[in-house]
Amino acid sequence: MTPRKIIIDTDPGQDDAVAILLALASPEEIEVLGVTAVAGNVPLELTAKNARVVCELAGRPEVRVFSGCDRPLGRDLVTAEHVHGKTGLDGPELPEPTMSLEDRHAVDFIIETLRAEPPGTVTLCPLGPLTNIATALRRAPDIAPRIAEIVLMGGAYFEVGNITPTAEFNIYVDPEAAAEVFAAGAPITVMPLDVTHKALVTKPRNDAFRALGTPVGIAVAEMTDFFERFDREKYGSEGAPLHDPCVTAYLIRPELFSGRHINVEIETTSELCMGMTVADWWRVTDRPANATFMREIDAEGFFALLTERLGRL
Ligand code: RIB
Ligand code: CA
Repeated sequence: MTPRKIIIDTDPGQDDAVAILLALASPEEIEVLGVTAVAGNVPLELTAKNARVVCELAGRPEVRVFSGCDRPLGRDLVTAEHVHGKTGLDGPELPEPTMSLEDRHAVDFIIETLRAEPPGTVTLCPLGPLTNIATALRRAPDIAPRIAEIVLMGGAYFEVGNITPTAEFNIYVDPEAAAEVFAAGAPITVMPLDVTHKALVTKPRNDAFRALGTPVGIAVAEMTDFFERFDREKYGSEGAPLHDPCVTAYLIRPELFSGRHINVEIETTSELCMGMTVADWWRVTDRPANATFMREIDAEGFFALLTERLGRL
């Protein structure tokens, strides 16, 4: 089986970190062409640093990491230290990265990679605000038909908002970028809160990470121990929701997920509902379907896959 070529666009973030680790632990299915950092959970300088910390934790210092956009297309940056901590990777004590950033800007890397690789062979995996992706599409509209698939974590329908009453964080931070990505015409698969809130790191699951006894297993246990506080307090969740690893797990075992191919539009004018993903789940409009919007997950299968793969690092 030829591994799927992907670019991970990310704002680490503990859950981003686990998603990156799962990708790097799965070379049979996934070839990571590069990791592009974007401002989101924490400012860009930290997300670009954290992406390298995670690659080194995985024992993969040769992975190319690029720094991207430091703010949304047309609004001030909103960050989420209240969820992820001041560093964005609070929880484990991890060493400063020794690997350096690539010189090229992340947006240039995305454009040049999509132009260089055969059409339909590169998958984009955004795990944070969609600023880098939208900027690449604005600068090089020719890349849109060359994208194999965009598999992103973001949005919500039944779960509604986690940063405002109506919006999920990744979409809320840069709603204009999200609107342009959802309108680009590339095949899109969405992992919204509706599915990621069902991927909770319960105590037995956290214990299984720790029981790996490896630096990766212990670090992931400590990361999820830390970032569960927000969701426990707000939702009474049984543990941290592993939002971003749903993207990577889908690439490896898509059958773990199910949803509907529907129309999804992004609210970009109403301040009250800014960044809402208006998902036509019940198909009550004649707006054309533009995304596969996931709702169900085989959580046991997801955690079995994740734990087994983390054990390989
Ligand atoms: O709303 C959850 C999303 O926002 C995740 O990607 C998390 O890492 C943050 O970026
Ligand atoms: Ca993220």
